[in-house]
Amino acid sequence: MVNVAILGFGTVGSGVAEVLTKNGGLIDQRVDDLLRLKYILDVRDFPDSPYKDCFVKDFSVIENDPEVDIVVETIGGAKIALDFTTRALKAGKSVVTSNKELVATHGYELLQLAKEHGVSYLFEASVGGGIPILRPLTSCLAANELTQVTGILNGTTNYILTRMIKAGLTFEQALKEAQDNGYAEKDPTADVDGHDACRKICILAALSFGQHVYPDQVPTEGIRNVTLEDVAYADSCGYKIKLLGRCIRQPEGKVCAFVAPHLVPASNPLSGVEDVFNAIAVTGNAIGDVMFYGRGAGKLPTASAVVADVIDIAKDLKRDHRNEWGPGATDLVVSPDIIT
Ligand code: HSE
Repeated sequence: MVNVAILGFGTVGSGVAEVLTKNGGLIDQRVDDLLRLKYILDVRDFPDSPYKDCFVKDFSVIENDPEVDIVVETIGGAKIALDFTTRALKAGKSVVTSNKELVATHGYELLQLAKEHGVSYLFEASVGGGIPILRPLTSCLAANELTQVTGILNGTTNYILTRMIKAGLTFEQALKEAQDNGYAEKDPTADVDGHDACRKICILAALSFGQHVYPDQVPTEGIRNVTLEDVAYADSCGYKIKLLGRCIRQPEGKVCAFVAPHLVPASNPLSGVEDVFNAIAVTGNAIGDVMFYGRGAGKLPTASAVVADVIDIAKDLKRDHRNEWGPGATDLVVSPDIIT
């Protein structure tokens, strides 16, 4: 029996419980063991939930239960989540997360901590939601020297830009629609100002180029200042405005990473990526160009990636990216103006 605890019963946490339940039979078959959801940590009460017997409010119950093998952290942020993740790893439990803020800021140290304690720290869902990208990058593309990663990494801003061009909505109207549809948060700052895409490009840079790139090293501009006139003019010239996160390895080994709105020509497949979809283009010196596309946000797509990590750990309790992600080195990160 493999016991799982979920931290946080919000959109992603409840999606993970749903996928574990809905696909329980085939997951057990793939793991060749019984995967049991033992605990859900949340400060709120859910008296009508089908998982009501699993709820606890005190993390130490999970931390001190030797039966818990895998902790799924879907709390978000880099404070409580960091504390609980650190404690879980030190208690010998593997951790899976969708929390890009925590991975982008503390990924290297948490991978080292996992290594010290002989457990895994996996975060496939932290970039691209349900799109398989981190595992392919470090596994299927492991034979390549990677030179470039470019992506539409934020579903909310891509939705807003799509609605501006397709429905003629202003930025404010499109943002309100995104909030009404449940895509954007009430406080949309992290999405519209590019911080969410910045965290994701940091994770992609770390795994592509082997060094920790911190979010505050990455020049970041969101879409708040993109006007309806801008998107219409770009469209009339055959371009779409897209918020792109990019990281590029310079010939001398330095890494350039940045997030900004770009003019993308119709000939580039990224220009056709609409609504909340994400797409990530990767260039390697053996494969050439390869692209990953799919649902970059949402309850079940994100849960799909989280549960895949849980399954991988249940099958082999030592898998993670510790060999691909090196420590940070400020002098190796350069600003975009030296791109040639
Ligand atoms: N707010 C994020 C987005 C969710 O819109 O892409 C997934 O990381």
